[in-house]
Amino acid sequence: MIIDTQEDVTAAVLQEMHRTPDPRTKEILAALVRHLHAFIREVHLTEREFQEAVGHIVALGQKTTPSHNEVMLICGSLGVSNLVCLLNNGANGTRPTQANNLGPFWREGSPRVANGGSLLRSPTPGEALFFKGWVRDERGAPIAGAEVDVWHSSPIGLYENQDATQAEMNLRGKFTTEADGSFRFRSVKPAGYPVPIDGPAGVLLRAQQRHNLRPAHLHFLIHKPGFKTIASQVYSSDDPYLETDSQFGVTKALIGDYVRHADGPAPAPDVAGPWYSLEHTFVLEPGESWLPRPPISRKVAASHAE
Ligand SMILES: [Fe+2]
Repeated sequence: MIIDTQEDVTAAVLQEMHRTPDPRTKEILAALVRHLHAFIREVHLTEREFQEAVGHIVALGQKTTPSHNEVMLICGSLGVSNLVCLLNNGANGTRPTQANNLGPFWREGSPRVANGGSLLRSPTPGEALFFKGWVRDERGAPIAGAEVDVWHSSPIGLYENQDATQAEMNLRGKFTTEADGSFRFRSVKPAGYPVPIDGPAGVLLRAQQRHNLRPAHLHFLIHKPGFKTIASQVYSSDDPYLETDSQFGVTKALIGDYVRHADGPAPAPDVAGPWYSLEHTFVLEPGESWLPRPPISRKVAASHAE
């Protein structure tokens, strides 16, 4: 159609979509155009602001490398990642879920560890953590034989792939749940950490006077044929940034209740000083069992973290 006024532009673009053969593609693109045009009208985007926006989107791609995904970082910083997660888990967004963002640092091929074993592969100073998890179905029945990948940052907030002082695959391990659906490991209590602010995500955070920290957490990826695979994160109940996570990942269902033991016998004889225990239950829904593409393909040299 020939455009006469600004109002005509939306109709002209939507009209040109009639040849789109795939109905889902057509639905998504039509909604995108409607909402994008409505957004531009609502804020009355100026030409100068439009140029600036194009520059930010170009920079998102330019900043992305095999070891860093700036697009995922800005999706988290805008709450998009967790919205997509919560919409597609927990009975399609109607119930609490243990599903959470995968994050950028899952690696394939983490070493298999027997239940109760340690995630430490090189000396890692920190307070000892003894974790016990259960994997259950929606009726509470144990799921045996589920594969559980675990990974987390060190007590100074660095993943092994960011830190030359840590051994390969330190603080990572793969477990299989037992007949009662449980898995157990020993590690050190992780610390929170900053996300990078040298790209467009940093521009966004500074413009809003937001900090760039994530509360401390453990990562999980739970996989069992017949059930929907979930990535999960369990956050530290004593972290000061639970309510202002720069990536909006924290949900009520995922605040882990750490128990601090100031004295008394620890589960292992070599533990000195205070230690922590943490228990958490993960519920799997029926659905497609699939493994995501690893977000990184090699170690990073700089201290980037998300
Ligand atoms: Fe993380």
